[in-house]
Amino acid sequence: MPSVSVDESLHLEYFDSSSLLNPSAVKKGGKDPIFSWYRRYLTAKEEGKDAINGTLGSLLLDNGDLALNQVVMDSLRKQKGYDMAGYAPLRGIPAFRELTIDLALGPFRDEINTEVMSMATPGGCGALYASARNFADPGSKVLLRDLHWGPYQTILAENSLNSHTYPLWGSGMELAVALEELVSTQSRVLSWLNDPAHNPTGLTLTREERAQTLDCFIKSAQANPSIGHTLLIDAAYHLYASEPFAWAQTLSEAEQLPHNLLILFAISCSKSHTIYGLRTGALVCLHPSIEFLNRIEGVLLHTGRGTWSAPPRLPQIALAEIHEQMNDEWEDQKDTLKALLNRRRTAFNSALEEVGVRPLPNHDGYFAFIECEDPVAVCESCAEEYVFLVPLSGGIRVGICAIPVFEMKRVASALATALGE
Ligand SMILES: Cc1ncc(COP(=O)(O)O)c(C=O)c1O
Repeated sequence: MPSVSVDESLHLEYFDSSSLLNPSAVKKGGKDPIFSWYRRYLTAKEEGKDAINGTLGSLLLDNGDLALNQVVMDSLRKQKGYDMAGYAPLRGIPAFRELTIDLALGPFRDEINTEVMSMATPGGCGALYASARNFADPGSKVLLRDLHWGPYQTILAENSLNSHTYPLWGSGMELAVALEELVSTQSRVLSWLNDPAHNPTGLTLTREERAQTLDCFIKSAQANPSIGHTLLIDAAYHLYASEPFAWAQTLSEAEQLPHNLLILFAISCSKSHTIYGLRTGALVCLHPSIEFLNRIEGVLLHTGRGTWSAPPRLPQIALAEIHEQMNDEWEDQKDTLKALLNRRRTAFNSALEEVGVRPLPNHDGYFAFIECEDPVAVCESCAEEYVFLVPLSGGIRVGICAIPVFEMKRVASALATALGE
């Protein structure tokens, strides 16, 4: 390193940031394609352009305002000072922990042949983080589908983990092969599966595909009794799916789970309750042994204590109260938002069909995905028509959650032009 004088070292150009950042921090960066394309939409809007926002993962009303579940907003506003500002218990408010088990399992809760425990986390991200921290060995690979939510890689990197992938399609054989590869090289396998209403495609597995997926994990666990298997269902959008409790149903139909298989649900209240910024969720854990669940309760509490302390109290209190006293009213509002999403999806798919563009099969949730060779070029071309979408590896994510029905034809036409259809 060239030597620098005291005066020179005050200038940034002579400053070697690696003297402060550790080697792993040096590799980190804050670039996020979703937010940078969102900023471009905002700039176009500020310039007075008739711009369409298909960038963000938030459900917006047709006028661009954030869609809010008013039952949730009213309950948040009316809470007392202590419940707004006080600490929550480290494990979460007991009634909220119970609620998240119901949000994960719905009417199948009593039909599943395992014990269950829930730990409050700051959103689904907190649940994913806690699973990465505790159910995978640092340096090992976490099993994902090849098309997955980008921040998975960030959470893995923060936990010194890598990924191993299997295709989004044909999960049967490929999943079995991927599991075989991992169990032959690591002593623990953690897998994250975002279903139903997958981000970024909107895909939901069929009943057969779910059963087949679970069966692969059961078979691999049975064949490798010394290897721990953890299957995490990332349920970030499940309450907007046509069958919200489909995974609970699959679990209720399964044989007794082996002891070396742990099932987790990462519950997020961000979308289901329209409280994205209030960081509310849970890790719901299912296992045949209550002693083991008690053991991991302490483990998860430790991770929470050492990372975020306790998740916020206010939304836990409010949600517990809503589901005890105003469940029907909350559900009505949630169903109205779900119907809005369904109308947008139908309009988007039929507008694409009219212009001859085929998205990946999509069923539920906030997004749709169009595969293409050069996603950045396609998004640039759409941006020329003031349609802002997100280029990801292998294709374009369309946030149908933010696009009014009456704009879908314009989005489809911009995509068709960009793709040369
Ligand atoms: C696939 C997926 N998983 C998990 C999350 C986590 O959501 P949150 O941390 O806001 O609860 C999101 C949010 O966008 C998501 O898209």
